[in-house]
Amino acid sequence: MEAKRVLLLGGTGTIGRATAKALIGAGHSVTAITRASSDALAGCDQRIGPVTDPAFLNQVVGLGVDAIVSCLASRTGTPQDAWAIDHDANLAALRAAQDARVPQFILLSAICVQKPLLEFQRAKLAFEAALQSSGLTFSIIRPTAFFKSLSGQIGRLRAGKPFLVFGDGRLTACKPISDADLARFLTLCLTDADKRNRILPIGGPGPALTPLDQGRLLADALGVDLKVRHVPPALLSGIATGLDLVGRIVPALGTKAALARIGHYYATESMLLWDGHRYNARATPSFGTDTLAGHYAAAARGDTADDRGAHAVF
Ligand SMILES: NC(=O)c1ccc[n+]([C@@H]2O[C@H](COP(=O)([O-])OP(=O)(O)OC[C@H]3O[C@@H](n4cnc5c(N)ncnc54)[C@H](OP(=O)(O)O)[C@@H]3O)[C@@H](O)[C@H]2O)c1
Repeated sequence: MEAKRVLLLGGTGTIGRATAKALIGAGHSVTAITRASSDALAGCDQRIGPVTDPAFLNQVVGLGVDAIVSCLASRTGTPQDAWAIDHDANLAALRAAQDARVPQFILLSAICVQKPLLEFQRAKLAFEAALQSSGLTFSIIRPTAFFKSLSGQIGRLRAGKPFLVFGDGRLTACKPISDADLARFLTLCLTDADKRNRILPIGGPGPALTPLDQGRLLADALGVDLKVRHVPPALLSGIATGLDLVGRIVPALGTKAALARIGHYYATESMLLWDGHRYNARATPSFGTDTLAGHYAAAARGDTADDRGAHAVF
């Protein structure tokens, strides 16, 4: 296999860290632009500086790069941050790549951009479009749900509380993919010809899981009886509308309204391939070997870290 010189953006995030490991494990050399030095990026050449600064990007890209892998993402998901990071920072990196004739750009995106109702999805889509028309060889990876985003209720169930679901718990479904499997998939995009110049939706192994299925898996892993509390999704849209109104006077509440709207989206939209008519679990490609059940079992043993960060709200 041909070893490549990879510039990794967003290497300190959940998928970025796993991707750094996978890239190094596959024999590539990795330079990572970070805001601060990180122990999680052992084995990478870390360059500390602002990923939004074109001059800094030009300087790092000028060191010699065969491909950029971007796992950059807004930490908050608010409209302003999403445009600054998911769009502007990625675009600055793309322009630096074009100037330095870097041939390849691999982007971690999200499957939810196929039905863009939220500002962060529009920001991601706008960058996807810029990448597709850039002339660089590209792979745009649109994963389904990450394990961390389905792990928010471990503490509740441990404490004997009910598992919260929206509606009847079957309004949505997803095919969860582990950090390591997704990182391996991203790494393969460097060298697999069939992953070039494509948008690649990707889920993990096994059948699609509804929130109710996830609750059952989690209760089994923890060895507790599953109690379920049903929450109407309209509660979140009602909160968003209320916060929107007050947000006209208190801007901070406008930001909270945007987050409530993101919550409502995930409560009502599946993270599966949209085939033009419906979410289609069968048509959603699978990759990897790690299962959500295995992840919950590891969490029950205390073998996983809580990596939800700003996503803890979900
Ligand atoms: N959660 C899910 O289930 C799910 C499913 C499908 C797709 N996705 C998509 O996957 C992507 C990545 O997710 P993730 O969980 O790996 O992200 P994450 O853990 O939040 O990591 C984000 C990365 O971007 C960097 N970053 C953010 N703001 C920055 C700034 N202002 N300046 C410099 N660096 C900045 C972070 O650096 P710092 O460490 O310095 O903050 C970090 O390295 C997102 O696009 C998300 O939409 C998520």
